Amino acid sequence: MRRAILAALTAILAFGGIARADKFPSRPITIVVPFAAGGPSDVMARILAERMKTTLGETVLVENVTGAGGSIGVGRALRSPPDGYTISFGHLGTHVANGAVYKLGYDLVGDLDPVALLPSNPMIVVSKNAVPAKTLGELIAWIKAKPAPATAGTAGAGSGSHIAGLYLENITGAKLQYVPYRGTGPAMNDLVAGQIDLMVDQLSNSINQVRAGTIRGYAVTDTRRAESASDIPTTDEAGLPGFHMTLWSGLWVPKNTPKEIVTRLNAAATDALNDPAVRKQLENLGLAMPPKDKLTPAALGDWQKAEIAKWWPMIKAANVKVD
Ligand code: MLT
Repeated sequence: MRRAILAALTAILAFGGIARADKFPSRPITIVVPFAAGGPSDVMARILAERMKTTLGETVLVENVTGAGGSIGVGRALRSPPDGYTISFGHLGTHVANGAVYKLGYDLVGDLDPVALLPSNPMIVVSKNAVPAKTLGELIAWIKAKPAPATAGTAGAGSGSHIAGLYLENITGAKLQYVPYRGTGPAMNDLVAGQIDLMVDQLSNSINQVRAGTIRGYAVTDTRRAESASDIPTTDEAGLPGFHMTLWSGLWVPKNTPKEIVTRLNAAATDALNDPAVRKQLENLGLAMPPKDKLTPAALGDWQKAEIAKWWPMIKAANVKVD
């Protein structure tokens, strides 16, 4: 009997102890954002983290761990102890597309537990101001007429901006040369500076630059115009019917995180999304709140699986080469 108790205690100590749900949280929590500071993922994560600490009663930190289309950061988060103190922030790119582009060394569904679906936004086709095109049709014609492929900034192979670029190539037959960055925050700096020709970017990342006139916006990849950018036509209106893509984000934790801890984290995320000041900040960026009936951990899990089934065939057919 003593031997069995000793073995059990050893196992618990060896695996960092059992996460104490009743004492959670008792120290700061870290949200790992797999892209560079200043980009759309980072901005959303920081807005939510600030409000989540009110519900959790502990500081919620944001750590940017970048590279390989976001897969470095996701890998770091999911290899952390399943104790609720490390959260993986991600989206359609990192928690769906990455699995079709990289040999990840982890399972996007099997190695993560879903926590909560976060706001979403369409993509927007944007270019540097020097591009001699005023409409999406003129931009596509300009891209096709260029002797060398137009340069398109992305957050790396398998990122949302990269998938959106592949989609644009698929639907138009145009060819792009992708320029990878550690996030679309740094990519935006180069677009404004005219160092790259265009991006298919999250609306939330481009909207303020379009409003300021430092870049040109052509169309949003949605069936209806964004309320916060109602002067920007949809791709349907702009001559590319059916080019629809919604980039949704979410929170996950390592597999086997205690259910009570997942519930606490889900409550903190949901409280943040229901906070009027947070909603105003996010909606001003063109982000739409998730439907109330999609806020459970299981709803995010079901959604992620459905998006994998939807996107993997197109991404795999693109035969993306990653170095
Ligand atoms: C993406 O393109 O995957 C994201 O917009 C990158 C980012 O959030 O910086």
